[in-house]
Amino acid sequence: MMKSSNNFKGYSLLVISLLLCLGVRSQLTTDFYSKTCPTLLSIVRKQVQNAIKTEMRMAASLLRLHFHDCFVNGCDASVLLDGDNTTEKFAFGNINSARGFEVVDAIKSAVESSCSGVVSCADILAIAARDSVLLSGGPTWRVLLGRRDGAVSSATQANAALPSPFEALDAIIKKYTDVGLNITDVVSLSGGHTIGLAKCGTFDNRLFNFSGTGAPDSTMEASMLADLQSFCPVNGDSNRFTALDRNSTDLFDNHYFKNLVDGKGLLGSDQILYSSDLAGSTTKSLVESYSKDLKLFFTDFANSMIKMGNISPLTGSNGEIRKNCRAVNS
Ligand code: HEM
Repeated sequence: MMKSSNNFKGYSLLVISLLLCLGVRSQLTTDFYSKTCPTLLSIVRKQVQNAIKTEMRMAASLLRLHFHDCFVNGCDASVLLDGDNTTEKFAFGNINSARGFEVVDAIKSAVESSCSGVVSCADILAIAARDSVLLSGGPTWRVLLGRRDGAVSSATQANAALPSPFEALDAIIKKYTDVGLNITDVVSLSGGHTIGLAKCGTFDNRLFNFSGTGAPDSTMEASMLADLQSFCPVNGDSNRFTALDRNSTDLFDNHYFKNLVDGKGLLGSDQILYSSDLAGSTTKSLVESYSKDLKLFFTDFANSMIKMGNISPLTGSNGEIRKNCRAVNS
C-alpha cells in the first residue's frame, strides 16, 4: 500500500515537472470574467458605441490598436504604455498615426467603476476591436479573455514586428508566420482595411516615381491614380488623409477585396496581395474568393481575429492588471 502511494506521488511529481518544463500556460476562455465582471461586455459595447457615434473612424482606429498590440510581444497592451521615445508609441507605424488612446482610457474607467482591478487593458482592446468591427457592419465572434498586461514597450521591437506598407509580400508573410499566423490570416486580416483612413505619406511612393522607375506604380488603376496624384501632389501635405476603401469607407464589407481585383488598393502592401508575382502562388486566389464571397471573408476574418488575439498572451500570474492602461502599476 505504502509503496503504491509513493509510486503515485512520484508519478504526479513527474507529470507536474513535465508540464512546467513544457511551459504549459493557462488558456484564454470566453467566460473568464463571468463571475468577477459579469457586465464587462455590455460596458465596453456601450463605450465603443458612444465613441463611434462621435466619430465613425474610431472603429477603425480601435481595430488597428488591437492589431498593433498583438503583433509586438503578444497581446499585452504594450501599445498603450506612455513613455519616452523608446516606447511602442514612437515606432514608425504608430507615431503620429495610432489613435484611440483616449477612448481606451474612457472604456477602462467605465470598467473600473463596475469591477475594480480585475479586467486587463489587453482584454479591453480585444473586446473593443470586436465591437468596432460588428458596429461597422462586420462579423462578430466570441472574444477569448484572460490576458494580462505586460511591462515592456519597445519601439525597436515594434519596428521589427509591424508590417510596413512599403514592404514586399514575402517580408510581410514572414511577419505573420513569425507570430504563428498563416497566409489565410494575411489575406483575411488585411481586409481590416475595409474601414479607416491612411495618410498620403503611406502610399505616395506609388504615385509619381515608384521604386525609382520615374513612373507611377503600374498596378494602380488609372482614374484612381489621377485622383490621388492631385490629392497628394509632390511636396504636398503628407499627413492628408484618404479612405483605405474608397468605395465604402465606414462599412465593414468585402469592397476592399473587390478594389484589389480592380487595381484600386490604396497601400502598396494592399495591392501586392493581388498583383505581385508572389501573390499568384500565395494570396491572389483568396483575394478573388473574398471579393466574391462576403460570407467566406467574414468567417475567415473572425477566425483570424481570434488567432491574432491569441498571440503570446500573458496569463495566470504572469503580467498584471494595470490600473491605468497608460502605465505599469508601481
Ligand atoms: C501588411 C499588413 C499591414 C500594413 C502594412 C498596414 C499598414 C497600415 C497603414 C500604413 C495604415 C495608415 C496609417 C496612417 O496613415 O496613419 C493603416 C491603417 C489601418 N490599418 Fe493597417 N496595415 C496592415 C494590416 C492591418 C491589419 C491586420 C489590420 C486589422 C486587422 C489593420 C487595420 C487597419 C485599420 C482599421 C486602419 C485605419 C486606422 C484609422 O483610420 O485610424 N491593418 N494600416
